[in-house]
Amino acid sequence: MGIRFDPTSKTLTLTTRSSAYQMQIGPLGHLLHLYYGPLASDCFSYLYLPRDVGFSPNPAALREGRGWSLDTQPQEYSAALCGDYRLSSLEFTTEAGLRGADLRCLRHTISPGKYALPGLPCARGGADTWTLSVTLGDAATGVEVELLYGVYEAEDFITRCARIRNGGGVPMQLQKAASLCLDLPFGDWELLHFFGSHTMERQPERVPVAWAVQTVASRRGFSSHQQNPFVVLCAPDATEQIGDCYGVMPIWSGSHETSVERSQTGSVRLVSGIGSADFSWQLLPGETFQTPETLLCYSAEGLTGLSQSFHRFLRAHVARQGAYDRPRPVLLNSWEASYFDFDHDSILRLARDARDLGVELLVLDDGWFGDRDDDRRALGDWFANPRKLPGGLGPLIRDIRALGLDFGLWVEPEMLSEDSALYRAHPDWALTVPGREPTVGRDQLVLDLGREEVRDWLYETFFALLREHPISYIKWDANRQLSDLYSRALPPERQGETGHRYLLGLYALLERLCTEFPDVLFEGCAGGGGRFDAGMLPYFPQIWCSDNTDPVSRLAIQRGTSFGYPPVAMACHVSASPNHQTGRSSPLGTRGVVAMTGAFGYELDPAALSEAEREEVKRQITRYRELEPLLRCGDYYRLDPTAALPLAAWQFVSPDRRETLLSLVLTGAPPGPIPLYLRLRGLDPAASYRLIWMARYGCPDSAVDFPERWSGAALLHGGLVLPPMPGDYPSAQLLFRTDP
Ligand code: GLA
Repeated sequence: MGIRFDPTSKTLTLTTRSSAYQMQIGPLGHLLHLYYGPLASDCFSYLYLPRDVGFSPNPAALREGRGWSLDTQPQEYSAALCGDYRLSSLEFTTEAGLRGADLRCLRHTISPGKYALPGLPCARGGADTWTLSVTLGDAATGVEVELLYGVYEAEDFITRCARIRNGGGVPMQLQKAASLCLDLPFGDWELLHFFGSHTMERQPERVPVAWAVQTVASRRGFSSHQQNPFVVLCAPDATEQIGDCYGVMPIWSGSHETSVERSQTGSVRLVSGIGSADFSWQLLPGETFQTPETLLCYSAEGLTGLSQSFHRFLRAHVARQGAYDRPRPVLLNSWEASYFDFDHDSILRLARDARDLGVELLVLDDGWFGDRDDDRRALGDWFANPRKLPGGLGPLIRDIRALGLDFGLWVEPEMLSEDSALYRAHPDWALTVPGREPTVGRDQLVLDLGREEVRDWLYETFFALLREHPISYIKWDANRQLSDLYSRALPPERQGETGHRYLLGLYALLERLCTEFPDVLFEGCAGGGGRFDAGMLPYFPQIWCSDNTDPVSRLAIQRGTSFGYPPVAMACHVSASPNHQTGRSSPLGTRGVVAMTGAFGYELDPAALSEAEREEVKRQITRYRELEPLLRCGDYYRLDPTAALPLAAWQFVSPDRRETLLSLVLTGAPPGPIPLYLRLRGLDPAASYRLIWMARYGCPDSAVDFPERWSGAALLHGGLVLPPMPGDYPSAQLLFRTDP
C-alpha cells in the first residue's frame, strides 16, 4: 500500500513505484519531514538527532540538552514565531492579536482513493491512489491545518495541499497559506525555473541554491509570462539523462510564490503556494480556507525523466478526462492573416483557401464583435460587429461549415473596455480602486470575476453564443494582468481576497462552460503564454504558447515549456515570413517542423503564398496527420547535443518504442565541413529501425548515403551523422519505425 503508519517509530511513509516520502510525529507532536527520495524502507529519524545549534531556541518542554529546535528540525508545514526562523508556510493574525503557530498533530487518517477539492482544479484519482490526511493544531489560537497528501503509486507522484481552519473563537486574517513545505537535510542543489516576458515565455535558468532566500513569484494575478510557477530542485550534476530532480508544480493560475532557502545548517527548505504579497483572507470562527494543490515528483532519471513523468501525469490526471484521446484538428487562425481588418467575405475567402490546403478548422480571432476595429474598445460587447458581419455570426458560420470546415471563435470574456456598452452599464463590475484613476493594460480593465452576478452574466452570454451556433473551438484570451485589486462587492476587511476570488470565479465559470459543452475544444491564451500552467489544463487542453510565432524564438519557448508541460498542450502555428514579431525570415518547411511539436495550425493568409508554398503546406498537413498520434501520445526528448553547436533537436518516441520522429533545426551558420552528430534516445537497443522518410527544408536536398536499417543500439550509442544542410535556418525530420 502507498501509505503506511508505523506506531512504534511514529512514522508515516508514502511510497510510489520509485520514491519514498517519510514523516514522523515528533516528541511533542510536531509533524517532521524525514525523507523524500529514492525508494527506501528505513526510518530516517537518525538524520535529525538533537544537536545544540547556537541561537536555535528550544520548546520549553525540550529545553534539557538544548538540542531539539524547530529551527533545525525538518517541518512538514512550517509556521512563524515559535522558534523556526526559516521560511514559514502559514501566517495569520487573530482579532486577539495572536500571530504564529505551534502546530502539533491531532489526528491522521489513511484512505483509499484520492481526495478532491471542490471549487479548485486538482489531479483526478485513479487505480492505486491513496489519501493521507494529517490534522495539526495550534492550542493558543485554535487554528487547525489539515494537510492532504495524494499518493499515485504507479505514476510516482505525490500531491499536497492544506486546509486552514479557524478553530478559535475570534475572526482571523490569513496572510500566507502555502500548499507545501519541503525540507532537504543537506547537499548542494540548483534551482531550475522558467522566467520570461510577453513573446519570450518560459526561458530556463538554473542557479545554485544560495545561502539566502530565492523566490520565484508572480504578483500579477496570473501565473504570468514573467515567472512560471513550475520549478525544479536538482542536483548540480543532474543532466537530461541522470541525476536527482524534484519537480514542484502548483495547479494554480494566479499569483504564486515558491521560495527556497538554504539554512545555517546547510539544509534546504522549499515553500510553495499562492502568492502572499497582495493576499489576505478573513476566516470567521469555524471557517476554512483551502489552498490549491501542488504536484510533487522525484526523479533519479534526470530532467528528461522528470519532464516525461509530468507530461504523462498531466495528460492522464490533470487535463480533462479524454482530452487527449481524440486527434487535434489542423486550424487556421485569422489573426496574423488579417488582424482587425476583415468582413464576412474576406473570412470566407480565407476559409476557402484554408480548406483547399487541408485545414479542418477556421478560427475567427479578435475583431468580430461590437465596434471592435482596434484593441481600444468593445471588449464586453459580445454581439457580432454589424459592419463587418452584417448578417451576424450565423451566416458566416453556416457558409464556413458548408465548405466542410469547423468553426472556431476568439473571445476575451474576463475583460472589458471602458469604451463598451458593458462598462457604461456596469462600471462597478470592473476591478478599480475608488478615487484612483484605473491602471489600464492594452486599454482594458478586468471584470470582477469574484462576483457571482458577473460570472452569471458571462455564463449566460457565452452559453447563448455556444448554444445558438455550431462552434467547435473557443480561443479564450486574457490580454492584461490584474492590478487594481479592489472589489465593489467586498467589505473592507475582505479586500485582500479580491485576487484569489477572481481565480476561484474563473475556475467556476470555466467548469460550468466546459461541462455544458464537452465537445467544444477550448484553447487557453493570455496574450500568448501568460497563463500556461497546470491550473488551466483541466479546461484548456491546449494553450497558445506565445504571441511570438517566429520559429527560432519558438524553439526556445517550446523547449522551455517542455520541461514541465506536455508538448500536446502547446498550440504552435506556422506563420508568415518575414515573421511579424521579429522580422526574421525562415523557410516554410522549418516553420512547419517547429510547429509540429504541439497542437498544429496556421496563422497566415494562404493567398499570400506562392503556388509552390501552397503545395508545401499541403504536404505539411499530410505529414502532420501521419505524425499526430505520435506527437500527442509519444514521449518527448530534448536532444541538446552540445551548447557549442547551433543545433536544436528533439525527438518523439511512441510508448511501444517502435516509432520515433527526430526533428532538428540549425539555428546558426552550419559549421562548414565539420560533421554534425546526434545520438537518439528512448529506443529499444535490440530493435531494428528502418528510416521511413527523411525530409530536409531550407537547404538543397542532396543525396544522402544512409543505411536503410539501423539497430536501436547504433542510433542510441553510435549516433547519426547528419547530412550537410547549408542555408538559413535549415531543418529536417526523420521518421524511423521498426518492422511490424
Ligand atoms: C492576444 C493573443 C493573440 C491574438 C490577439 C488578439 O495577443 O495572444 O493570439 O488573439 O490577442 O487581440
